[in-house]
Amino acid sequence: MREKTVPVKVWDGWVRLFHWGAVSCVLVSYFSAKSGAWNLHYGSGYLLLTLVGFRILWGLFGSENARFWTFLRGPVAAFRQLGKFRQPGPDTETTHNPAGAWMVVVLLVLLAMQGVSGLMANHDVGFTYSQHGPLANWVSEATSERMTNLHATLINVLLLAVLVHVLAVFAYRLVKGHDLVVPMVTGMKAIQASHPKAPRLAHPALGVVLLAVAAFGVWYVRRLGMGA
Ligand code: HEM
Repeated sequence: MREKTVPVKVWDGWVRLFHWGAVSCVLVSYFSAKSGAWNLHYGSGYLLLTLVGFRILWGLFGSENARFWTFLRGPVAAFRQLGKFRQPGPDTETTHNPAGAWMVVVLLVLLAMQGVSGLMANHDVGFTYSQHGPLANWVSEATSERMTNLHATLINVLLLAVLVHVLAVFAYRLVKGHDLVVPMVTGMKAIQASHPKAPRLAHPALGVVLLAVAAFGVWYVRRLGMGA
């Protein structure tokens, strides 16, 4: 007989806002760069940097299960998790599992590197760039060129990581029958009544403050660059 489940709020609104905001920004940034819509590209880039900055702060001070030290476990735990991937069993996780956690870190680092390299990148030949990130004129021409190359190459690595991430999410559905997507949309997951472990969620007002801090940081960097 299947054990009774109870609905548990596993992802607060801030994690979900970050996730789907980041997905939208990656899509808009990619297609705006392809079509040369630079103002849109800069706007989505600044928004993405704000969201990533916010998620790092939320990973330090936010809801219990969104904090890095709650879900980051050592490589042994991650490999053990992968080893039992094919074993059926109910989903009792209220945060990222140990293997998924490493994927989350890879995605966050790639998103941050993509955004930061964009701040120093240029889209021109020569040093008087007509299209450039706000810090392109603050660094040497050689650094700006390196950042431009990194920005152009890293997007392919990021898209590959996203592909692996999405395939993993669907593999959990197909192989283990665990639906991870609905919780990332609604915040709620059905957890077995014997393992409810509802995580302690941070006060929503803290999210407003941390988002404002991240937005201020990005605005400040942009303003710095405009003065150059
Ligand atoms: C540009 C595309 C994407 C990026 C950059 C991305 C990035 C991320 C990141 C950073 C996290 C960790 C969330 C957090 O802890 O704050 C995450 C989790 C998650 N993502 Fe994505 N994602 C992308 C696309 C998708 C898509 C298309 C889906 C759905 C099909 C999806 C489903 C999920 C789910 C279900 C989780 C939670 C996994 C778990 O329960 O451990 N993602 N994603």
